[in-house]
Amino acid sequence: MKQQVLLYCFLAFYLLLGQSATPVLAQSIVTIPIESKDYALVLQTDSDQRLGITHFGKRLNNAAEYAGIKAMYKRDDNNVGINNNAYTPSGTWSLVEPALQIIHADGNTSTELRYVSHRKEVLANQVTQTSVVLRDPVYATEVTLYFKVYPQNNVFEQWTEIKNAEKGNIRLGKYASANLYFMGSDYYLRHYHGTWAGEMKPEETRLPFGIHTLDSKLGARANLFQPPTFMLSFDQPATENTGKVLLANLAWSGNFKIDFEMDPYHNLRLIAGINPHASEYHLAAGQSFKTPALIYAYGENGIGEVSRNLHSWARNFRILDGNGSRLTLLNNWEATYFDFDEKKLVGLFAGAKKLGVDLFLLDDGWFGNKYPRNGDVAGLGDWQENVKKLPHGIGYLVEEATKAGVKFGIWVEPEMVNPKSELYEKHPDWVIRQPERPEHYYRNQLVLDLSNPEVQDFVFGILDKLFTQNPNIAFIKWDCNAVIYNAHSAYLEKQKMPQTHLYVDYVNGLYSVLERLRKKYPIVPMMLCSGGGGRVDYGSLKYFTEFWVSDNTDPLERIFQQWEYSYYYPAITHCAHITDWSKVGIKFRTDVAMMGKMGYDIVVDQLKPEELEFSQQAIKNYQSISDMIWHGDLYRLVSPWQNPIASSMFVSPQKDRAIVFNYVVSNRYENSFSTAPIKLQGLDPQKKYRLSELNLFPGTRSSINTTAVYSGDFLMTVGFNPNLSLRRTSVLMEVAEVK
Ligand code: DGJ
Repeated sequence: MKQQVLLYCFLAFYLLLGQSATPVLAQSIVTIPIESKDYALVLQTDSDQRLGITHFGKRLNNAAEYAGIKAMYKRDDNNVGINNNAYTPSGTWSLVEPALQIIHADGNTSTELRYVSHRKEVLANQVTQTSVVLRDPVYATEVTLYFKVYPQNNVFEQWTEIKNAEKGNIRLGKYASANLYFMGSDYYLRHYHGTWAGEMKPEETRLPFGIHTLDSKLGARANLFQPPTFMLSFDQPATENTGKVLLANLAWSGNFKIDFEMDPYHNLRLIAGINPHASEYHLAAGQSFKTPALIYAYGENGIGEVSRNLHSWARNFRILDGNGSRLTLLNNWEATYFDFDEKKLVGLFAGAKKLGVDLFLLDDGWFGNKYPRNGDVAGLGDWQENVKKLPHGIGYLVEEATKAGVKFGIWVEPEMVNPKSELYEKHPDWVIRQPERPEHYYRNQLVLDLSNPEVQDFVFGILDKLFTQNPNIAFIKWDCNAVIYNAHSAYLEKQKMPQTHLYVDYVNGLYSVLERLRKKYPIVPMMLCSGGGGRVDYGSLKYFTEFWVSDNTDPLERIFQQWEYSYYYPAITHCAHITDWSKVGIKFRTDVAMMGKMGYDIVVDQLKPEELEFSQQAIKNYQSISDMIWHGDLYRLVSPWQNPIASSMFVSPQKDRAIVFNYVVSNRYENSFSTAPIKLQGLDPQKKYRLSELNLFPGTRSSINTTAVYSGDFLMTVGFNPNLSLRRTSVLMEVAEVK
């Protein structure tokens, strides 16, 4: 009878799935290899149908041999549960850090998960998706683990769906996205801390026994103090060109928790997902919960290769218009702050044109009438043009910019509100706040309750109105300057929904607004900004073309910040502006900004003639090399952390062109800067190349001999000396194939 049922299920399954899916039935031991081009994550059931991870590393030539891996390990799964569990439940005999905690409909807190079935589908572009269904033998709750693999990039995207198939409500205490298991000897974690103007400060830690946690509880922005981004090296710290390393990001813009737990066998458990802090999620019968994805790229030949693969994945599959081009721009934030009017802005348009950028970006301060936005204390939420500053409205500015020969973009911060605003007066119930407690502000503002569909409509409406009334708006800077304090939603209360849904529903509410926006306005470039780089993750970047790295635009600081971001995010996404934040010469500032998506935040008329001449030429140079920066392969050559200089290069896919950025990052005795050549990477050893210098300041000459020809072999084996010195603190070299 049992066999008959199984056979029937098999046939039904097969018919349902068609040819692209491979159904597999429960049997005694099931091995599920999830393979990319070079690597494999292998899942296997034990004799009790519990699902474990038996391998993470190089793929085997013969997939049939995966089944035999487990037998090679003498791991006595013992008194604390199953360490290698692929999704660790809690409440029975598993006492290690769980991935899942459920309070069942009857109040019971125990969950076990057993393998039911799995299927593998081949999607477009050779992408595969394997899903594995697990079920509790006592309760009907079902968990499906999803593994999407981008084989060419060795990138994995993993998430989980939990379905309440019980008769009543269940409560999810913890609902991780991914639960991985690595078998190694030592683990080195590169993780980040920071604050406003000091984002992405790295620290490398050899993971100890016990649990090491990365976490954020800021509600509306994940990146500010600690990003959901990390690098994990196996056995020893990886270098650019050696070592086993995993680069990862939780694609979620809210609270997260990522636990690294070393087990008694020196194997590492990784549990990553939404932070369970104050976030118990209730599911009614029949409802499902889909977690965000953990995205990870893995490789065994050093960080550089993994990072290039992740960039290529991001450009092809994640960031908006990743293979497209970007607009150079002039932003008025640091040039004017809130102090501008129509006349001043129109004058700045002329400056943008004179400089040669594509677009003028109007920043904060253009709105609010009852409470004019003349500082950060008032007006946020009142999205009508300030009639004193802009008597003819945005439409007029768009027209004037067009007349001046530049496109027009605009800043918004639609998720937030100043208490001094008409919006707050009209809709206090739209604001996240504890009604019985004093309000607490971050930059004098509060966060709107995006769990409320009415608020979602309002936020969508701000952008929709801007675009409808001004179809020529060519760029949006979407800012988010506050964190969620006093987490409480009047909407959830009214709906008799648990308050513990707020953190999750906020982020999902934000994503649904962005989704809707992108349906209607699929291509308008949008910069993701969050009081500097407070919100950078692959959850949001699906909807954005680029992100603001930091309000700190000091070029020296930026070399370090952009270096760290460059591990995870391609340069096409790094907004880097030349500003007056630092008094360092304009050449150094420009050369650093060119490593990303270049822009300006200066008063053009205040540039000296030779600075203007330099900048105009620099924009032309950028246009000629941007294809390499945006779409080429990045090689980090010399790290600023351990050296008095920094050097990186971008190489075209055909290896016929490259651009090398070299900077002095210390003011130590200058003999230490260029004592040896810098070995280039990524070129074709067989090809011949010539080098020349770009961005020379008027009146200076290059020390590079442009007639000399070098083989790729020479440039990569011996290297090239850019001759950095205290008089040549940044040197941009173009490498071009001699045909
Ligand atoms: C914070 C951003 O990071 C800045 O670039 C600027 O847009 C201000 N907000 C405006 O308030």
